[in-house]
Amino acid sequence: MTDLLRTPGPGAEGLTDHLRERWSVSVFDAARELGDEEIAALLHAAQWAPSAGNGQPWAFIVAERGNAAHDVLVQHLSRGNSGWVPRASVVFLALAQVAPDEDGNGPKWPTYAYYDLGQAAAHLTVQAASMGLWVHQFAGFDQEAVARELGVPDHFQLLTGIAVGARGNHDEVSEDDAARERRDRIRKPLEQFVYGDRWGQPWR
Ligand SMILES: Cc1cc2nc3c(=O)[nH]c(=O)nc-3n(C[C@H](O)[C@H](O)[C@H](O)COP(=O)(O)O)c2cc1C
Repeated sequence: MTDLLRTPGPGAEGLTDHLRERWSVSVFDAARELGDEEIAALLHAAQWAPSAGNGQPWAFIVAERGNAAHDVLVQHLSRGNSGWVPRASVVFLALAQVAPDEDGNGPKWPTYAYYDLGQAAAHLTVQAASMGLWVHQFAGFDQEAVARELGVPDHFQLLTGIAVGARGNHDEVSEDDAARERRDRIRKPLEQFVYGDRWGQPWR
């Protein structure tokens, strides 16, 4: 379902469909469940992202409505995220391996773990769009508490949740959550972050 209201502005016209039509949905269909095959397809997209030295320094915890990880997550959501996140079909908790494990194994270049995890998340997001699903990533939760309660080891850092599901009915949510979907979608112009001859000199 494409919502004309959410169609992105100048610069997005030439993007491939799944990028152009993507946006962060805040009203999910609380009745929609994802099958294991759908969840696995999303995870395969993350699995096949490139990473520094092919280190694949990521991990995901699948928090599905009703499972233990989901129960822990919903207790630690920020106020602004506590209404909409639990309505998503699934939340992938995204973790980066930022140090070697107890046997000394780990990413060759831990500096790039954040970069690699972000890229895996982006792959998952595009895969979701191709499957007619919607994604909203979020950092507003108590990562330390969730990691502790889920037994995450110190060499992994819990960063975000990736909420995935189908679009839901605005009448079933609070005005605040419905309003989140009407937020302006604006971007900095290229000249503010793309440089040519040297730093500070806009490209073209
Ligand atoms: C790392 C990260 C953290 C985010 N944290 C939150 C959050 O806690 N709550 C929220 O509603 N949205 C959150 N977002 C969503 C962004 O606000 C959203 O992607 C941005 O406004 C651009 O909108 P768009 O995704 O619709 O293009 C987060 C996105 C990212 C990538």
